Amino acid sequence: MEAVTDVVFRHVVARAGAPDLFFTEFANATGWVHAGDKAIRGRLIKTDDEQPIVAQIWGGEPGDMEAFAKHCAELGFDGIDINMGCPAKSAIKSGGSALILKPEIAVAAIAAAKTAGLPVSVKTRLGYTRIDEWKKWIATLLQQDIANLTIHLRTKKEMSKVPAHHELIPDIIRLRDELAPQTLLTINGDISDRTHGLKLVHQFPGIDGIMIGRGIFQNPFAFAPHTTHTTEHKQVLLALLMHHLDLYDNHAEQTARPFETLKRFFKIYIRDFDGASDLREQLMHTTSTDEVRELIRAVDADAGRQPLV
Ligand SMILES: Cc1cc2nc3c(=O)[nH]c(=O)nc-3n(C[C@H](O)[C@H](O)[C@H](O)COP(=O)(O)O)c2cc1C
Repeated sequence: MEAVTDVVFRHVVARAGAPDLFFTEFANATGWVHAGDKAIRGRLIKTDDEQPIVAQIWGGEPGDMEAFAKHCAELGFDGIDINMGCPAKSAIKSGGSALILKPEIAVAAIAAAKTAGLPVSVKTRLGYTRIDEWKKWIATLLQQDIANLTIHLRTKKEMSKVPAHHELIPDIIRLRDELAPQTLLTINGDISDRTHGLKLVHQFPGIDGIMIGRGIFQNPFAFAPHTTHTTEHKQVLLALLMHHLDLYDNHAEQTARPFETLKRFFKIYIRDFDGASDLREQLMHTTSTDEVRELIRAVDADAGRQPLV
Protein backbone atom coordinates (compact mmCIF):
# COMPACT_ATOMS: atom_id res chain seq x y z
CA MET A 1 0.00 0.00 0.00
CA GLU A 2 1.32 3.36 -1.08
CA ALA A 3 2.95 5.37 1.72
CA VAL A 4 2.23 2.49 4.11
CA THR A 5 4.08 -0.71 3.24
CA ASP A 6 7.54 0.75 2.85
CA VAL A 7 10.64 -1.02 4.14
CA VAL A 8 9.99 0.34 7.65
CA PHE A 9 6.39 -0.75 8.10
CA ARG A 10 6.98 -4.10 6.40
CA HIS A 11 9.51 -4.84 9.13
CA VAL A 12 7.00 -3.89 11.82
CA VAL A 13 4.47 -6.27 10.27
CA ALA A 14 7.12 -8.97 9.95
CA ARG A 15 7.75 -8.76 13.69
CA ALA A 16 4.05 -8.77 14.58
CA GLY A 17 3.26 -11.68 12.24
CA ALA A 18 4.75 -11.96 8.79
CA PRO A 19 2.75 -12.60 5.62
CA ASP A 20 4.01 -15.40 3.36
CA LEU A 21 4.77 -12.88 0.62
CA PHE A 22 5.64 -9.19 0.74
CA PHE A 23 4.73 -6.57 -1.87
CA THR A 24 6.28 -3.13 -2.16
CA GLU A 25 4.21 0.01 -2.61
CA PHE A 26 3.52 0.59 -6.29
CA ALA A 27 6.21 2.44 -8.23
CA ASN A 28 5.76 4.12 -11.59
CA ALA A 29 7.78 2.74 -14.50
CA THR A 30 7.66 5.85 -16.67
CA GLY A 31 8.67 8.10 -13.77
CA TRP A 32 11.69 5.92 -13.09
CA VAL A 33 12.69 5.73 -16.77
CA HIS A 34 12.62 9.53 -17.10
CA ALA A 35 13.83 10.69 -13.70
CA GLY A 36 15.53 7.70 -12.10
CA ASP A 37 15.45 6.80 -8.41
CA LYS A 38 14.30 10.20 -7.24
CA ALA A 39 11.00 9.64 -9.06
CA ILE A 40 10.20 6.56 -6.98
CA ARG A 41 11.33 8.06 -3.65
CA GLY A 42 12.49 4.98 -1.84
CA ARG A 43 9.54 2.80 -2.80
CA LEU A 44 11.77 -0.10 -3.84
CA ILE A 45 14.09 -0.08 -0.83
CA LYS A 46 14.17 -3.50 0.80
CA THR A 47 16.48 -5.54 2.99
CA ASP A 48 17.83 -9.03 2.36
CA ASP A 49 15.71 -10.63 5.08
CA GLU A 50 12.47 -9.70 3.29
CA GLN A 51 11.85 -12.84 1.31
CA PRO A 52 10.09 -13.53 -0.89
CA ILE A 53 9.35 -9.98 -1.98
CA VAL A 54 7.62 -8.74 -5.11
CA ALA A 55 8.04 -5.27 -6.63
CA GLN A 56 4.74 -3.72 -7.62
CA ILE A 57 5.00 -1.49 -10.68
CA TRP A 58 2.50 0.48 -12.72
CA GLY A 59 2.35 2.46 -15.92
CA GLY A 60 0.91 2.59 -19.42
CA GLU A 61 4.04 2.39 -21.57
CA PRO A 62 5.13 -1.20 -22.19
CA GLY A 63 8.67 -0.07 -23.13
CA ASP A 64 9.03 1.61 -19.74
CA MET A 65 7.58 -1.45 -17.98
CA GLU A 66 10.24 -3.58 -19.65
CA ALA A 67 13.09 -1.31 -18.53
CA PHE A 68 11.71 -0.96 -15.00
CA ALA A 69 11.05 -4.69 -14.63
CA LYS A 70 14.69 -5.35 -15.61
CA HIS A 71 15.79 -2.84 -12.97
CA CYS A 72 13.64 -4.67 -10.37
CA ALA A 73 15.29 -7.95 -11.36
CA GLU A 74 18.72 -6.37 -10.87
CA LEU A 75 17.66 -5.15 -7.43
CA GLY A 76 16.99 -8.77 -6.46
CA PHE A 77 13.20 -8.87 -6.31
CA ASP A 78 11.54 -12.27 -6.57
CA GLY A 79 8.75 -11.18 -8.87
CA ILE A 80 7.01 -8.29 -10.61
CA ASP A 81 3.39 -7.42 -9.88
CA ILE A 82 1.67 -5.01 -12.28
CA ASN A 83 -0.95 -2.79 -10.74
CA MET A 84 -4.05 -2.59 -12.95
CA GLY A 85 -6.49 -1.58 -10.26
CA CYS A 86 -5.52 1.74 -8.70
CA PRO A 87 -8.44 4.19 -9.05
CA ALA A 88 -6.49 7.36 -8.13
CA LYS A 89 -6.78 10.22 -10.64
CA SER A 90 -3.01 10.49 -10.93
CA ALA A 91 -2.72 6.76 -11.75
CA ILE A 92 -5.53 6.47 -14.28
CA LYS A 93 -3.98 9.13 -16.55
CA SER A 94 -1.75 6.39 -17.86
CA GLY A 95 -2.12 3.14 -15.92
CA GLY A 96 -3.64 1.60 -12.80
CA SER A 97 -7.30 0.72 -13.33
CA ALA A 98 -7.30 2.61 -16.67
CA LEU A 99 -5.70 -0.53 -18.16
CA ILE A 100 -9.05 -2.30 -17.65
CA LEU A 101 -10.29 -0.06 -20.48
CA LYS A 102 -7.14 -0.64 -22.56
CA PRO A 103 -6.69 -4.42 -22.56
CA GLU A 104 -4.25 -4.30 -25.49
CA ILE A 105 -1.87 -2.17 -23.38
CA ALA A 106 -2.39 -4.46 -20.40
CA VAL A 107 -1.41 -7.47 -22.52
CA ALA A 108 1.64 -5.65 -23.92
CA ALA A 109 2.69 -4.53 -20.43
CA ILE A 110 2.61 -8.12 -19.15
CA ALA A 111 4.69 -9.35 -22.10
CA ALA A 112 7.14 -6.47 -21.56
CA ALA A 113 7.54 -7.17 -17.83
CA LYS A 114 8.12 -10.88 -18.54
CA THR A 115 11.28 -10.08 -20.51
CA ALA A 116 13.00 -9.38 -17.16
CA GLY A 117 12.86 -13.13 -16.47
CA LEU A 118 11.00 -12.93 -13.15
CA PRO A 119 7.54 -14.34 -12.44
CA VAL A 120 4.96 -11.70 -13.42
CA SER A 121 1.64 -11.25 -11.66
CA VAL A 122 -1.23 -8.77 -11.95
CA LYS A 123 -3.37 -7.03 -9.35
CA THR A 124 -6.66 -5.70 -10.65
CA ARG A 125 -10.33 -5.09 -9.98
CA LEU A 126 -13.48 -6.73 -11.36
CA GLY A 127 -14.05 -4.01 -13.91
CA TYR A 128 -14.00 -0.28 -14.42
CA THR A 129 -17.66 0.71 -14.20
CA ARG A 130 -19.84 -2.39 -14.03
CA ILE A 131 -19.43 -5.66 -12.18
CA ASP A 132 -20.42 -7.70 -15.26
CA GLU A 133 -17.25 -6.55 -17.01
CA TRP A 134 -15.33 -9.05 -14.92
CA LYS A 135 -15.62 -12.15 -17.15
CA LYS A 136 -14.10 -10.61 -20.26
CA TRP A 137 -11.41 -8.67 -18.40
CA ILE A 138 -10.34 -11.48 -16.09
CA ALA A 139 -10.34 -13.93 -19.05
CA THR A 140 -8.01 -11.59 -20.96
CA LEU A 141 -5.56 -11.56 -18.05
CA LEU A 142 -5.79 -15.33 -17.49
CA GLN A 143 -4.87 -15.89 -21.14
CA GLN A 144 -1.47 -14.20 -20.58
CA ASP A 145 0.08 -17.08 -18.61
CA ILE A 146 0.83 -15.03 -15.50
CA ALA A 147 2.11 -16.49 -12.24
CA ASN A 148 -0.62 -15.03 -10.04
CA LEU A 149 -3.73 -12.93 -10.46
CA THR A 150 -4.88 -10.90 -7.48
CA ILE A 151 -8.43 -9.62 -7.74
CA HIS A 152 -9.69 -6.81 -5.55
CA LEU A 153 -13.35 -7.82 -5.64
CA ARG A 154 -14.75 -4.40 -6.52
CA THR A 155 -14.94 -2.24 -9.64
CA LYS A 156 -12.91 0.95 -10.04
CA LYS A 157 -16.16 2.92 -9.75
CA GLU A 158 -16.96 1.29 -6.43
CA MET A 159 -13.61 2.43 -4.99
CA SER A 160 -13.70 0.81 -1.52
CA LYS A 161 -17.16 2.10 -0.68
CA VAL A 162 -19.23 -1.07 -0.99
CA PRO A 163 -18.69 -4.56 0.45
CA ALA A 164 -16.28 -6.62 -1.69
CA HIS A 165 -18.09 -9.09 -3.95
CA HIS A 166 -17.08 -12.36 -2.29
CA GLU A 167 -20.13 -13.98 -3.91
CA LEU A 168 -18.27 -14.00 -7.24
CA ILE A 169 -15.38 -16.11 -5.95
CA PRO A 170 -16.77 -19.52 -7.12
CA ASP A 171 -17.36 -18.22 -10.68
CA ILE A 172 -13.88 -16.67 -10.79
CA ILE A 173 -12.30 -19.94 -9.63
CA ARG A 174 -14.19 -21.81 -12.37
CA LEU A 175 -12.91 -19.40 -15.03
CA ARG A 176 -9.35 -19.71 -13.76
CA ASP A 177 -9.60 -23.52 -13.72
CA GLU A 178 -10.90 -23.49 -17.28
CA LEU A 179 -8.48 -20.97 -18.83
CA ALA A 180 -5.31 -21.04 -16.76
CA PRO A 181 -5.10 -23.72 -14.07
CA GLN A 182 -1.38 -22.90 -13.71
CA THR A 183 -2.14 -19.31 -12.62
CA LEU A 184 -2.51 -18.78 -8.88
CA LEU A 185 -5.57 -16.89 -7.73
CA THR A 186 -5.38 -14.41 -4.86
CA ILE A 187 -8.45 -12.78 -3.43
CA ASN A 188 -8.52 -9.28 -1.96
CA GLY A 189 -11.12 -7.01 -0.38
CA ASP A 190 -12.58 -6.80 3.13
CA ILE A 191 -10.48 -9.65 4.52
CA SER A 192 -9.64 -8.67 8.08
CA ASP A 193 -6.90 -11.10 9.08
CA ARG A 194 -5.28 -14.49 8.45
CA THR A 195 -8.04 -16.39 10.26
CA HIS A 196 -10.70 -14.73 8.12
CA GLY A 197 -8.63 -15.42 4.99
CA LEU A 198 -8.24 -19.09 5.85
CA LYS A 199 -11.98 -19.35 6.44
CA LEU A 200 -12.53 -18.11 2.86
CA VAL A 201 -9.95 -20.57 1.53
CA HIS A 202 -11.85 -23.35 3.31
CA GLN A 203 -15.20 -22.08 2.04
CA PHE A 204 -13.98 -21.68 -1.56
CA PRO A 205 -11.42 -24.38 -2.39
CA GLY A 206 -9.37 -23.17 -5.35
CA ILE A 207 -8.26 -19.87 -3.84
CA ASP A 208 -4.45 -19.90 -3.65
CA GLY A 209 -3.79 -16.69 -1.79
CA ILE A 210 -5.30 -14.01 0.40
CA MET A 211 -4.24 -10.38 0.26
CA ILE A 212 -4.97 -8.16 3.26
CA GLY A 213 -4.93 -4.38 2.85
CA ARG A 214 -6.64 -2.11 5.35
CA GLY A 215 -6.96 -4.89 7.91
CA ILE A 216 -3.45 -4.01 9.01
CA PHE A 217 -4.67 -0.59 10.20
CA GLN A 218 -7.10 -2.31 12.58
CA ASN A 219 -4.70 -4.98 13.71
CA PRO A 220 -0.94 -5.02 13.09
CA PHE A 221 -1.04 -8.74 13.99
CA ALA A 222 -3.40 -9.42 11.06
CA PHE A 223 -0.98 -11.90 9.45
CA ALA A 224 -0.14 -13.74 12.66
CA PRO A 225 -1.38 -17.33 12.88
CA HIS A 226 -3.42 -16.61 16.02
CA THR A 227 -4.64 -13.19 16.99
CA THR A 228 -4.21 -12.77 20.72
CA HIS A 229 -6.19 -10.28 22.73
CA THR A 230 -4.62 -10.51 26.14
CA THR A 231 -4.64 -8.02 28.98
CA GLU A 232 -1.08 -7.22 27.88
CA HIS A 233 -2.32 -6.12 24.46
CA LYS A 234 -1.70 -2.43 25.19
CA GLN A 235 1.86 -3.18 26.30
CA VAL A 236 2.50 -5.25 23.17
CA LEU A 237 1.17 -2.51 20.88
CA LEU A 238 3.29 0.16 22.57
CA ALA A 239 6.39 -2.03 22.24
CA LEU A 240 5.59 -2.44 18.54
CA LEU A 241 5.33 1.33 18.15
CA MET A 242 8.75 1.66 19.83
CA HIS A 243 10.10 -0.82 17.30
CA HIS A 244 8.52 1.18 14.46
CA LEU A 245 10.30 4.33 15.72
CA ASP A 246 13.66 2.55 15.79
CA LEU A 247 13.17 1.19 12.27
CA TYR A 248 12.14 4.63 11.04
CA ASP A 249 15.32 6.15 12.48
CA ASN A 250 17.50 3.36 11.08
CA HIS A 251 16.16 3.84 7.55
CA ALA A 252 15.61 7.61 7.70
CA GLU A 253 18.57 8.50 5.53
CA GLN A 254 17.71 5.91 2.89
CA THR A 255 13.96 6.55 2.69
CA ALA A 256 14.08 10.32 3.31
CA ARG A 257 10.47 10.29 4.52
CA PRO A 258 9.58 13.26 6.74
CA PHE A 259 8.72 12.63 10.40
CA GLU A 260 5.15 13.79 9.69
CA THR A 261 4.57 10.64 7.59
CA LEU A 262 4.92 8.56 10.77
CA LYS A 263 1.84 10.12 12.31
CA ARG A 264 -0.61 8.20 10.16
CA PHE A 265 0.55 5.03 11.93
CA PHE A 266 -0.05 6.12 15.53
CA LYS A 267 -3.72 5.12 15.49
CA ILE A 268 -2.69 1.54 14.76
CA TYR A 269 -0.94 1.25 18.12
CA ILE A 270 -2.72 3.75 20.33
CA ARG A 271 -6.24 2.40 20.57
CA ASP A 272 -8.73 0.54 22.71
CA PHE A 273 -7.39 1.58 26.10
CA ASP A 274 -8.24 4.29 28.63
CA GLY A 275 -6.56 7.53 27.66
CA ALA A 276 -5.77 6.35 24.10
CA SER A 277 -7.40 9.30 22.36
CA ASP A 278 -5.66 11.84 24.66
CA LEU A 279 -2.32 10.17 24.01
CA ARG A 280 -2.94 10.15 20.25
CA GLU A 281 -3.75 13.84 20.40
CA GLN A 282 -0.46 14.54 22.21
CA LEU A 283 1.48 12.41 19.75
CA MET A 284 0.10 14.44 16.86
CA HIS A 285 2.00 17.44 18.23
CA THR A 286 5.39 15.74 18.39
CA THR A 287 8.20 16.67 16.03
CA SER A 288 10.68 13.83 16.50
CA THR A 289 10.86 10.14 17.29
CA ASP A 290 12.48 10.99 20.65
CA GLU A 291 9.49 13.09 21.65
CA VAL A 292 7.24 10.14 20.81
CA ARG A 293 9.41 7.79 22.86
CA GLU A 294 9.24 10.14 25.82
CA LEU A 295 5.44 10.20 25.79
CA ILE A 296 5.20 6.43 25.46
CA ARG A 297 7.65 5.86 28.30
CA ALA A 298 5.63 8.21 30.49
CA VAL A 299 2.47 6.17 29.86
CA ASP A 300 4.39 3.06 30.71
CA ALA A 301 5.86 4.52 33.89
CA ASP A 302 2.33 5.60 34.96
CA ALA A 303 1.26 1.99 34.62
CA GLY A 304 4.14 1.03 36.93
CA ARG A 305 5.66 -1.46 34.52
CA GLN A 306 9.12 -2.31 33.43
CA PRO A 307 10.34 0.23 30.86
CA LEU A 308 9.57 -0.86 27.29
CA VAL A 309 13.09 -0.33 26.05
C1 LIG B 1 -3.53 3.82 1.74
C2 LIG B 1 -3.70 2.76 0.68
C3 LIG B 1 -2.71 2.60 -0.27
C4 LIG B 1 -2.84 1.62 -1.26
N1 LIG B 1 -1.83 1.45 -2.15
C5 LIG B 1 -1.88 0.41 -3.02
C6 LIG B 1 -0.78 0.10 -3.88
O1 LIG B 1 0.26 0.79 -3.88
N2 LIG B 1 -0.90 -0.98 -4.69
C7 LIG B 1 -2.03 -1.77 -4.71
O2 LIG B 1 -2.09 -2.75 -5.44
N3 LIG B 1 -3.08 -1.49 -3.94
C8 LIG B 1 -3.03 -0.44 -3.09
N4 LIG B 1 -4.10 -0.20 -2.26
C9 LIG B 1 -5.30 -1.06 -2.34
C10 LIG B 1 -5.19 -2.25 -1.39
O3 LIG B 1 -4.06 -3.05 -1.74
C11 LIG B 1 -6.43 -3.14 -1.46
O4 LIG B 1 -6.59 -3.62 -2.76
C12 LIG B 1 -7.70 -2.43 -1.04
O5 LIG B 1 -7.50 -1.63 0.09
C13 LIG B 1 -8.82 -3.46 -0.77
O6 LIG B 1 -8.39 -4.43 0.16
P1 LIG B 1 -8.79 -4.34 1.72
O7 LIG B 1 -10.31 -4.33 1.78
O8 LIG B 1 -8.16 -5.54 2.34
O9 LIG B 1 -8.22 -3.04 2.21
C14 LIG B 1 -4.00 0.80 -1.29
C15 LIG B 1 -5.00 0.97 -0.34
C16 LIG B 1 -4.87 1.93 0.64
C17 LIG B 1 -5.97 2.10 1.66
